[in-house]
Amino acid sequence: MTTARLIALDQILFVLVAAAWAATAGIALTGLRQPAAAGRRTRLIAAASCAAAIVVTALRVAVTAGLAGAGWWFVAEKVTLALPLVVVPALVSAAVSLPRLLQGTATGSTRIVAFPLLVTAYGAVAGIACAVVISYPVTTGGAAAVLALFASASAVTWRLLGPARSPRHGWQAAGTCVLALALALTIGGGWPSGHLHPGHDAGGRGVSVDLLRGPAPAAAGGPAGARERVRRFTLTAQPATVRLPSGGGAEAWSFNGQVPGPVLRVRQGDLVEVVLRNRLPVQGGTVQGGTGQASNGQAGSGQGVTIHWHGYDVPAAEDGVPGVTQDAVWPGQSHVYRFRAEDAGTYWYHSHQNSSVAVPRGLFGLLVVDPAAPAPESEDHVLALHTFGSRPTLSVDGAAPSDLLTRLTLAPGARTRLRVVNTDTRPVVLGLSGVPYRIAAVDGGDVPGATDLDGARLHLAAGGRYDLTFTVPSGPVLLTTGDRPALLVNGPATPPPAAGPIVDITRYGSAAALPARFDRETTWVLDKTLAVSGGLPRLAQTVNGKAWPNIPTPVVRQGQTVRIRVVNRGTDTHPMHPHGHHVRILSRNGVPATGLAMDTFDVAPGEVWEVVLVADNPGVWMSHCHDLAHAAQGMEFHLAYEGVTTPYDMTGGNHPA
Ligand code: C2O
Ligand code: CU
Repeated sequence: MTTARLIALDQILFVLVAAAWAATAGIALTGLRQPAAAGRRTRLIAAASCAAAIVVTALRVAVTAGLAGAGWWFVAEKVTLALPLVVVPALVSAAVSLPRLLQGTATGSTRIVAFPLLVTAYGAVAGIACAVVISYPVTTGGAAAVLALFASASAVTWRLLGPARSPRHGWQAAGTCVLALALALTIGGGWPSGHLHPGHDAGGRGVSVDLLRGPAPAAAGGPAGARERVRRFTLTAQPATVRLPSGGGAEAWSFNGQVPGPVLRVRQGDLVEVVLRNRLPVQGGTVQGGTGQASNGQAGSGQGVTIHWHGYDVPAAEDGVPGVTQDAVWPGQSHVYRFRAEDAGTYWYHSHQNSSVAVPRGLFGLLVVDPAAPAPESEDHVLALHTFGSRPTLSVDGAAPSDLLTRLTLAPGARTRLRVVNTDTRPVVLGLSGVPYRIAAVDGGDVPGATDLDGARLHLAAGGRYDLTFTVPSGPVLLTTGDRPALLVNGPATPPPAAGPIVDITRYGSAAALPARFDRETTWVLDKTLAVSGGLPRLAQTVNGKAWPNIPTPVVRQGQTVRIRVVNRGTDTHPMHPHGHHVRILSRNGVPATGLAMDTFDVAPGEVWEVVLVADNPGVWMSHCHDLAHAAQGMEFHLAYEGVTTPYDMTGGNHPA
C-alpha cells in the first residue's frame, strides 16, 4: 500500500479506535449499573464491543508499522505518544475488564471493570488530539498538553468511580484537570508566539537586501552601452473584464488591461527594465494615471501590487515580495524592476501581494527569454493555463484566454516548441497526442538527454513549466489539459487524447553529476495541523509543525551546498517553490533522480523528496507552497543568507500570500 493510502487509512482508524473504545466504556458502565439479569446481556454486548475495539486498535498499530517504513517523520508522535496511550490501557482492559464482562456476573467492582475501559477511551481520544495538535517534530508543549489532559481525565475518573464520591469531589477533580492543562501549556511554551525577527533572521546584521539590485543601464555611448540591449516595459495593474468564448466571464485584475498580461519576450543577455504602475481603484474611487513617480498612494488602501519573476533567479531586491524585498505598491504608486536576462527559457511573472487572491484574479503574465544562439525551432508558442472561476482556459502567445478548443495551424515538418506554463494553484495533467515529442525544458532549464515520448502524459506542478518540442506531422496534434481538449494543431480531425502513463519527471533525461557532500542539511516536514497563524491557533498548512510567520528561517552561507529533504505527511499536494534558486532533484521516495533543475516541485502526500540547493544568490528569500491558498494558510517561510538583512516587514499592509 502506498504511503498516501496508509496516511488516509490512519486518519480513518484513529477516529474508529476512539469511537470503539468510547462505545465499549459506555456500554460497560450501563451494564454494570443494571440489575444482574438485564445487566448480563449488556455486559456481553460490552465484551463484544471491547473485542472489536481491540481489533481496530491492532489495525492502527499495523498501519503505523507500515508508515514507519516510509520514515520516522510519518510516525514519530504515533510511536512515542498516541499509540502507547491507547495500547497500554487496551492491554489492561483485555486482561482485566474483558474476562469480567464475559463472566456475566460482575465479580469485580464497577471501578475495576470500567476504569481500564474509560482510560483506554481517553487514550484513544488523545490519539485524535495528537493528530490534530502535533506534527513532526514532536514538541514538548504539544506532548505535555495531551498527556496532561489524559492524566487528569484518568485521575478524575478513578475518583468518580470510587465509593466516596460526592459532587464536590467531581468539581474539584475537573478543576484539577483544567489546571493541569494550563500548566502543561505554560511549561511546554504554550502556543508559540512569534513574528518575523530582525532582518528576517540573519540576526539583523549585514547588508540590506535593498542594495542587492539588478544592474542599472550603462551610460549611453559607453563601451558597455554600445553592446547592451535594454528592453523596457511598463506593466500597469488595472481592472479588466475577462470574457470567455463559452459565454462565461470574470471581473479581473490585469496588467495593461489584458489577462494574461503581456508576454515579455527578450533575448538572453538583454537588460530588462519593467516599470510597474498600480492603477487599481483605491477604496471608494479610481486613481488617475500618474507619471511613474507618483507616491500619492496610501499603504493599505485598495489592492497593493508587486511583480515576482517566478523561476527567474533575479538579484534579491528585484524579487518582488512585499514585506521582504520591497513594500507593496499601492494604487497611484510605481516601482521599477531591473535584471539581466542571463538564463534563456520559459518563466512567468505575477503579483506577490495577497497572491492567493491576486494571481487567480489575473495579475500574471509570461516571460520568455530566447537563447542568444539561434533556436532550432521555427515555431515557438507560449501557452498559459489558467482557471477563471471553475473554467480552465488556455491562452496562446498572450491572446485572450479560451475555455473552448483553440486551433493552431503549423506547417508540416516545422520544428516546434510549445512552452506550457501552469499559472494555476493546482497541478495539471497534460497530454500531447498525434506526434512523438520531448520535454525539452523543465522550469526554464534545458533537459539533457531528453528522450522521445509517445502517448505519455505529464504532471505539471502549479507554477511549473514544460517546453514540449516536436516536428509537425502531416496529421493533427492534440494537447489536452486534464480531461479537456485545449489545443488542436492542424485540425479538423482530432487524434484520440494521450492516455499513456504519467512520466516520472524526476527520472526523465540523462543523469547529471550531482553533489554527494553537503555543507548543510535541512528538513521541511509538511502537514496540516493546529498552529498559530495570523495570531490565532487554527488548522494551518505547516512546515515542521509551525505556520507563517513562526516557521524558523534556515540561514545559509553564500557558496554552501544545502540538501533539503521535503516530507509530506499530509493529504494535500504541495508544489514547493523556493525563490531565487533552482534546486536539483536528488531523489524521490528514495529512488535516485536524474538531477533536473526545478523551481517548483510537487510533493504529493506521503512523498519524500531530496533536493540540493546551491547558495549562489544572496538575499532574504521567500520559500512557499505554490498552492497559494496553502501559503495563505501558513505554508510560507524564508531562506536567508548570513550577512543579508531586510528593512521591510509585514506592517503597512504588506501581505505576501
Ligand atoms: Cu510564483 Cu512566491 O511565487
Ligand atoms: Cu501546499
